[in-house]
Amino acid sequence: MELARIQQLEELAKQYGNPLYIYDGDIIKSQYKKLSEAFNNVKEVTFNYACKANTNLNILKLMKKLGTGLDAVSLQEIQIGLKAGFTPQEIIFTPSGVSFDEVRKAVDLGVNIHIDNFPFLKYFAEEFRNYPIGIRINPHIKAGGNEKISTGHVNSKFGISIEQIDDLLELKNQIPLNVQGLHIHTGSDIVDIDIFLKGAEVIFDVAEKFPNLKYLDFGSGFKVPYKEGDKQTDIELLGEKLGEIFNQFIEKYGKTLRLIFEPGKFLVSQSGYFLAEVNVVKETPYNTFAFVNSGFNHLIRPMFYNAYHHIINLTNPNAQKKNYNVVGYICETDTFASEREISEIREGDLLCFLNAGAYSFSMSSNYNSRLKPAEILIMNGETHLIRRREVLEDILMTTEEINL
Ligand code: LLP
Repeated sequence: MELARIQQLEELAKQYGNPLYIYDGDIIKSQYKKLSEAFNNVKEVTFNYACKANTNLNILKLMKKLGTGLDAVSLQEIQIGLKAGFTPQEIIFTPSGVSFDEVRKAVDLGVNIHIDNFPFLKYFAEEFRNYPIGIRINPHIKAGGNEKISTGHVNSKFGISIEQIDDLLELKNQIPLNVQGLHIHTGSDIVDIDIFLKGAEVIFDVAEKFPNLKYLDFGSGFKVPYKEGDKQTDIELLGEKLGEIFNQFIEKYGKTLRLIFEPGKFLVSQSGYFLAEVNVVKETPYNTFAFVNSGFNHLIRPMFYNAYHHIINLTNPNAQKKNYNVVGYICETDTFASEREISEIREGDLLCFLNAGAYSFSMSSNYNSRLKPAEILIMNGETHLIRRREVLEDILMTTEEINL
């Protein structure tokens, strides 16, 4: 990490305290640029930001300014999206297992909706006849960095099975459904471009049976590098290859279709830095533990997915490296990193976790009654507080106190 960036992060920690989430808006901008340039061979293409990755209102406002649409998975994400300035037409709601009442509310708000099960298709036809929908297909493709983020395989809960397409067509003949799009998303952290191309072939085959489509949504799963030498999705090559077969398909289909992607990680992961301070360094006969003032309440990816987040000691970056287990203050095993080589850590040092822009704050909780950190956005050389640090009153606010 460059010295200027280290100094900037340290300065922000002094100003706003820690633990602290910091996002660099310029990195988000340049990631968006990379994506849009990679697919500039396709006539109509939209990137719907998968805001589950980072739902801060201001991050959504930045996406809107850049020109993305929005992929939302809950009523609340839709509401934040609308508040950020997205029009209902720019939002696609792709829920999984929500109540039909939530779908009804999304229809009331006028957003686009993806449906992935037969019962809801029937309810939808009964209540909303001509309202446009997209259908999520499960292509039976095994993909993704780990089991938890693999969503397109045969045993996955997501989508209508590719083996049920005939049933789907039959249902479509019986009830009024206005199917305007098809959607797949096979998982997150996909390096192999052939997986995307295979998914495309599956969706093209289904699309031939739906003559009135307006778009095909390929979901996301673009992998970003987490550690040095890590493989990532070659987005330029993907753009070239997928763009080419997409263009061939629309020629065959006979009319233009919009190509949609729903990137989360690719847009925001690398923009994020999570800072935490070392409370104590504890030596045992077997290990050296560096305890930070955080835990899986703030950053759960290492514990939940065994995910690697690179750690830099901002206070002592050039010291000799030693082996550490970086752990948190939660009363459970909350290991951020095991036997990791990091520049010598002392009590009071500030550690920085990289790739903390996606699925980091958005997956945080109040476990152990800990408070959520503040969030900062650096934009055009200026820094902005985009979420204040929580105080105890925030978690007490939703508690009903009764007389016992
Ligand atoms: N579209 C759909 C339908 C999705 O389910 C997801 C992610 C995305 C798009 C965005 O995928 P991305 O571009 O971020 O790979 N919490 C996990 C990742 C779970 C992703 C869930 N769905 C993690 O931290 O690795």
